[in-house]
This record gives sequence, C-alpha cells and structure tokens, in this order.
Amino acid sequence: MAARNTVSLLVGLLALLSTWGVAAKVEVSMEDRVEVFKGETTPITCMFTLPEGVSGVIIEWFYVTKRGEKQSLYYQDPSKKVVTKGTQFTDRMSVNGTVASGVIVMTISDVQVDDGVEFICSIRDLVEGTANGRTTLKVFAKPDLPTIEGVKTGFSINEHSLSKIGTCEVKNGFPKPNITWYRNKTPVRPAPGVLEVVPSSILGSNGLFTVKSELNMVVKKEDKDDLFYCEINFFVPAGWGMTETSAINITVYYPSTAVDVWVESPKGIIKEGDSIELHCRGNGNMPSSILTFHHNGEDYTPENNVMVFHNVTRLSNGVYECISTDTDTFKEIKGKTVVFVNYLDAAVVVPEDTVLLDLGGELTATCNALSSLQTETVWMKFGEEVSRGHSLILKNVTFDSAGTYLCLVTVEGMETNGTLNVKVQGPPQIMKSDHTEMEESSETTVNLSCNVRGFPTPSVIWITADGTILKAESEVEREGEVMSVVRIDVTSDITASCKASNALGTDSLTFNIKAIVHTTTVPATTTTTTGTEGTGVVIAVVIICILLLAILGSVLYFLYKKGKICGRSGKQSLTKEKSGKDNIVVEMKNDNTEEAVLLGVNGEKQTPRNQ
Ligand SMILES: *[C@@H]1O[C@H](CO)[C@@H](O)[C@H](O)[C@H]1NC(C)=O
Ligand SMILES: *[C@@H]1O[C@H](CO)[C@@H](O)[C@H](O)[C@H]1NC(C)=O
Ligand SMILES: *[C@@H]1O[C@H](CO)[C@@H](O)[C@H](O)[C@H]1NC(C)=O
Ligand SMILES: *[C@@H]1O[C@H](CO)[C@@H](O)[C@H](O)[C@H]1NC(C)=O
Ligand SMILES: *[C@@H]1O[C@H](CO)[C@@H](O)[C@H](O)[C@H]1NC(C)=O
Ligand SMILES: *[C@@H]1O[C@H](CO)[C@@H](O)[C@H](O)[C@H]1NC(C)=O
Ligand SMILES: *[C@@H]1O[C@H](CO)[C@@H](O)[C@H](O)[C@H]1NC(C)=O
Repeated sequence: MAARNTVSLLVGLLALLSTWGVAAKVEVSMEDRVEVFKGETTPITCMFTLPEGVSGVIIEWFYVTKRGEKQSLYYQDPSKKVVTKGTQFTDRMSVNGTVASGVIVMTISDVQVDDGVEFICSIRDLVEGTANGRTTLKVFAKPDLPTIEGVKTGFSINEHSLSKIGTCEVKNGFPKPNITWYRNKTPVRPAPGVLEVVPSSILGSNGLFTVKSELNMVVKKEDKDDLFYCEINFFVPAGWGMTETSAINITVYYPSTAVDVWVESPKGIIKEGDSIELHCRGNGNMPSSILTFHHNGEDYTPENNVMVFHNVTRLSNGVYECISTDTDTFKEIKGKTVVFVNYLDAAVVVPEDTVLLDLGGELTATCNALSSLQTETVWMKFGEEVSRGHSLILKNVTFDSAGTYLCLVTVEGMETNGTLNVKVQGPPQIMKSDHTEMEESSETTVNLSCNVRGFPTPSVIWITADGTILKAESEVEREGEVMSVVRIDVTSDITASCKASNALGTDSLTFNIKAIVHTTTVPATTTTTTGTEGTGVVIAVVIICILLLAILGSVLYFLYKKGKICGRSGKQSLTKEKSGKDNIVVEMKNDNTEEAVLLGVNGEKQTPRNQ
C-alpha cells in the first residue's frame, strides 16, 4: 500500500515538474468551447508550438467521460497513427495535420448530443515534456415547432377555482428549451391560487428534451377576449432562438347583468289580429341560464329567445317581462316592454238599415267606429265618394238621392264599414222625352219607352187616345223605378200615353205618331184607314155618291126633256146657268172620288187609268 502511494506521489511530482518544465518549451492553444448543431460535422483544432529541433513528438487526443475519466481517442507518433477502437467517436472521427505545421485538427462528423464532452489535445515530447489543451464541445438541437392545445369546454366564472386553460409542448430540443406563457402579448404573471404554470419535461431516448407547460388560472369575465400562446426559447450556437405557438382563445361563460326584451315584429303599430314576435336577450352567455316570458300572471317559454303571440287583441295589452334565471345560482334578471294593441270596432250607422224620406226632405246620418286611433270616414254611393267625415247630410232629396250609402272607416290598414239604405218617397215622375212627337212611315214598328221614378214603385199602363190599353212589350222594374216599353205597328196616326201611378199621385206622358203613307203616283191622296171603323164610312160615301149620281141622272133627263120643248135658246141658257154645276160635276169626277171608293172597297192598288 505504502509503496503504491509512494509511486503515485512520485508520478505526480514528475508530472508537475514536466508541466512546469514544458511551459516554456511546448505550448498548446485551443478554443474553450466549440458549438455545433446536432448532426453537423465539426473540427476541433489544436495548435501548438515546439522549441527548435524537436523530433519524436507524440500527439494524443482524449475526452472526459461522464464519470470524469480520461478516455483515449487517438495516438500518433512519428511511426504510427492510431484511432482508439471502441469509443463513441471511433467511426465518426478523423485527425489531420502534421507536427511541422503546428496544427492538428480532429474532425467529428454527425455530431450527437452525447458528444458534448471535453476534448483534450496532448502534445508530448520526450525531452521537453507534455502540454495539454482542452476544448468543450457544446451540442445543440433545435426543437420541433411547438404546439398548443386549448381546453375546448368553456369556463364559467361561477367556478372560483383554478381551471386548466391549455398545454404547450415542444419536442426534441437540446439543451432543454424554455416555455413562457403569454396573454395578449404579455408574459403571464404567475400568482398562487390565481394563475399557475406547471412545467414538465422528459428526456427522450434520443437524448433530446420534450418540454410541456400547462397554464391554470381562475377565469374571470375580463378574460373572455384574451388570446393565449406560448413562446419557446432555446439555445443555439452563439446565442438563442425563439418560436411561438399559435394563439388560442377561451370561452368564458358569465351570467347576464341586464335583459333586453323588445317587439321584433310587427314594426310600427300593433293591430288586433296581428301576430307579435317578442325577442329577449340577456347580456350574458351562461348555458345554465334560461329565459322565461311573463305576462298577466302567466309564464311562457320562448323558443330560441323568441316568443310569438298569435292573433292579439286589446286584451293582450300590457307589460311583457323576460326573466333570465341562472339555474346554478338561482339569480334572476328581468327586462320588460309594454305592448299596446290598436283596434277598430265595427262601424255603427245611425239611423239603422233603411230610412224613408219624402221628396225634398232632409237627412243627417252618422257612422262611427270605436278605435284606439284617429279614424277616417268616407261615405260612398255606387262606388263613388259622396262625402267625407263621419256625418252624411242630405238636403232637398230627390229620387237621385235614393240608394245604398256605404260608410268606410279606415285607420292604419284596419277597416270597417256600414250601410244605410235611403228610400225617397214621392209621386211618380216620368222622365221627359224629346221623342214624344214623331213622324213614322206606315208599316213600320216603333218602340215607345217610358222611364218612371217614384216610391212606392209606381205601376205603368199604356193607353191610346180612344181608351185602348196596350200591352207593354217589356217592363223592367226596380225599387223606385220602372222602365216600360210598348211596341206599336204604325198604320195610321196614333196617340199613346204612358200613365204611371202610385199611392202618392200620377204622371203621364203622351206620344203622338204621325203616319206617313208613301203612294207611288198621286201625291195628294187622302187615304182612309182600313179596319172596322173605316168600312162604315166607305159604305156611307158609296151610298151618297150613288144617290148623287141618281139625282144627277134624273136632273139631266128632266133638262133634256125640257130642252126639246123650249128649243135651242133653252138649251143655251141651260148651259150658261149650269156651267158652275157642270164644273162641280167635272171636279168631282176629276177628284177620283169614285176610284178612291173603289180602291177602298177592293183594298187593291188600282190606278184610275186601269179602270
Ligand atoms: C488534411 O490536411 C491537409 C493539409 O493541411 C489538407 O490538404 C487535407 O485536405 C486535410 N484532410 C482533411 C480530411 O481534413
Ligand atoms: C429559461 O428560463 C430560465 C429561468 O427562467 C433562464 O434562466 C434561462 O435563461 C432561460 N433560457 C432561455 C433559453 O431563455
Ligand atoms: C376563438 O377561436 C375560435 C376558433 O379558433 C374562433 O372561431 C373565434 O372567432 C375566436 N374568438 C375570438 C373572440 O377571437
Ligand atoms: C283569431 O281570432 C279570431 C277571433 O277570436 C278567430 O276567429 C280566428 O280564427 C283567430 N285566428 C287565428 C289565426 O288564430
Ligand atoms: C229642391 O229641389 C228642387 C228640384 O231640384 C228645386 O226646384 C228646389 O228649389 C229645391 N229647394 C231648395 C230649398 O233647395
Ligand atoms: C264591408 O265589410 C264586410 C265585412 O265586414 C266586407 O266583407 C266587405 O267587403 C266590406 N265592403 C267594403 C266595400 O269594404
Ligand atoms: C223594339 O223592341 C224590340 C224588343 O223589345 C226590338 O226587337 C226592336 O228592335 C225594337 N225596335 C226598335 C225600332 O227599336
């Protein structure tokens, strides 16, 4: 034991002496550290100076293991170069350089994280002693892109404890990367019980770190719009690098502090019969909160915050409340709106139904409809406006005033109506006609018409001058009005009257038709009407004519006889005396009386020449 101690002490002394001795002679210079990314190739350079004329120098490379032992990597003397077998570097290292150049470079390819050790370059001269240089290799692995995962479920602010917001993770970094949580561009400030960051890391089998960080906090309403993300810091050769995750937001559930309720439709005024749509909205978003409508002591459950009331009436008037209840805390928040339903009742007309007026009489009628609004009233007759305003005033009424009056009451798209029947009573009035005197060719047909008004509705008859009643061809009768038409075959002059009468009086209108006979030759022909009444006259005329002829014949015979007794003178005087009478006779003959008689009797058209 003692001997061994003594030996090691001696060795130590020798080493000390040689180092001290070499200091002036052999010098080695190396960088303290060499930084490199994993997988790259890196040179480790060892520079040295030797005194003049030195030969037989030995160059050795070592590295310091994790346990702190010095492990040989390479040996070189003037006769051989040997890479130590069985080290982690054996297959990936090469050494280049000569003693003469004073530079020896060890190159390590495909650097691994484990390669981050201390390397020793040792230059030994048997005469001048040994000099060592040391370089630490720093290996870096740039981590993968970081990820962030937010908790999808929302957070209720009614929870007053820490909730996990999300987790950031970054894989395969070396050395261990740092994760910092940010909220809206500012690093979060951990505070116990309020906001806590829980880091964790795993060293993978590949020697790289996977780092995670979990953010936990008590969620408040103000956090609802916040964006959270992580920043990753990691070392790289000669500095550090940084990456960020994407940002996440969180859903924060908070109860309402106010509830808004309003009539969504109809826009404008509400009328009876409308469907009204009430909307309700709280300013919170608690899934646990429910809305209820309340009106007149009844509760209604809306669908999607919308409540529809169909067919409203004035009874639907009043306050509509919407209540938001948080089923977690049983807190209630209310909002309300007032609904007013407008109405228009049925029109009431005074007097009712039907009114009977005397000609020249007066009427004031009114039409009213109860409404919540200012109404507008129009009176119409036969589709035309006759008066505006709720009163209808008729003065000095005529038959024209009779009829059905409609009052139309309108307001804001609502309308109602009422009617009034006006009857005007009075004696018949026949409408004057310009065609009461006419000339018509015989053998034609004429329609005579008579338009009568009066109430009670008059009755109409047609009568000729001699009292014959004619049957009307057509008669159209309406209340208070009659239109009667008679058809007449014109054969001779005729006079026909239309007589109208009712309980209050009568009226008549007479038509005179002059018949025009067209004969082909003699213009001044006096025709006698045919028919029963004409026949008697004809016979009488014939008899008279025959008598006249007989008298004439006997007179002539008497004169003739007298002339034979008295001689020529008598004959002359006779001629003189009777000249006027002769003329008369001639005239009568010329007058064609006999022919006319014959014509009349035969009823044929026979000219005198034909006779
Ligand atoms: C070794 O060094 C020589 C001269 O210094 C150089 O030409 C050669 O490329 C080097 N080889 C390697 C593998 O570095
Ligand atoms: C990581 O965080 C630690 C402690 O906050 C700090 O000392 C270190 O410098 C950080 N590293 C990087 C790469 O930012
Ligand atoms: C929150 O994130 C979701 C999904 O990424 C997105 O649809 C939503 O708009 C975001 N909300 C806010 C307030 O940024
Ligand atoms: C509206 O109310 C009236 C009278 O109460 C009724 O006749 C009608 O059927 C109702 N209409 C609807 C759509 O409910
Ligand atoms: C009434 O009407 C009739 C016929 O239109 C007319 O003759 C009379 O003057 C009127 N009377 C008044 C008072 O207007
Ligand atoms: C009057 O009212 C009735 C129902 O009340 C309706 O059927 C009729 O069309 C209305 N008449 C007019 C002209 O508006
Ligand atoms: C008279 O009335 C009848 C039927 O009413 C009609 O067929 C005829 O054409 C009318 N005659 C004249 C001349 O108007």
